[in-house]
Amino acid sequence: MSFYPANINERFHAPGNVGTAANANAVGTSATFVCGAALRFTLRIDRETKIILEAKFKTNGCGYLIAAADVLAEKVVGVKLTELHHLDQKILEREIEGELGEFPEARKHCRELAFETLQIAFADFRHAQIEEWTGEKALICTCFGISEETIENLVENNLLETVEEVTAACSAGGGCGSCQPLIQEIIDTTAHEI
Ligand code: FES
Repeated sequence: MSFYPANINERFHAPGNVGTAANANAVGTSATFVCGAALRFTLRIDRETKIILEAKFKTNGCGYLIAAADVLAEKVVGVKLTELHHLDQKILEREIEGELGEFPEARKHCRELAFETLQIAFADFRHAQIEEWTGEKALICTCFGISEETIENLVENNLLETVEEVTAACSAGGGCGSCQPLIQEIIDTTAHEI
């Protein structure tokens, strides 16, 4: 009899996404004090389309952590940043538990570590976009590399009134969602100027 439930055991023995993504441009590393496990996600994200092309992980953790990281890596590949629902923790946790069943209370930190490490990898990608930014106006949406100027022009020329309309027009705001208040500010100021 296995130490782990069947779904976890399967991934524990044959995870499909262990390793390092080739030419990774997003790296997230984290650890938990609960059990001392560490996890590292490496992602390759297409700079133009913002589609996640490859996701791999490495860990010294238990079967629950391996299974959770393996499911997350699998779920994000082929997905555009805008389709990640602002990395909503509840949605991603549902994805994990939909595949693996509910985690016991004592192993919930494994699921959380997997989620948190993936978020760190995406933050790393955003940070790199800021570093590489050479435009004169501020970079507003670091997930999609959209500048203040582009958003202002879109709002002004297309009479956009909501953040959702801006996202539909240029993707800004459709990744992690952290730039949405800034987009709202641009809409408010541009609307006043018209
Ligand atoms: S900075 Fe993440 S969606 Fe804009």
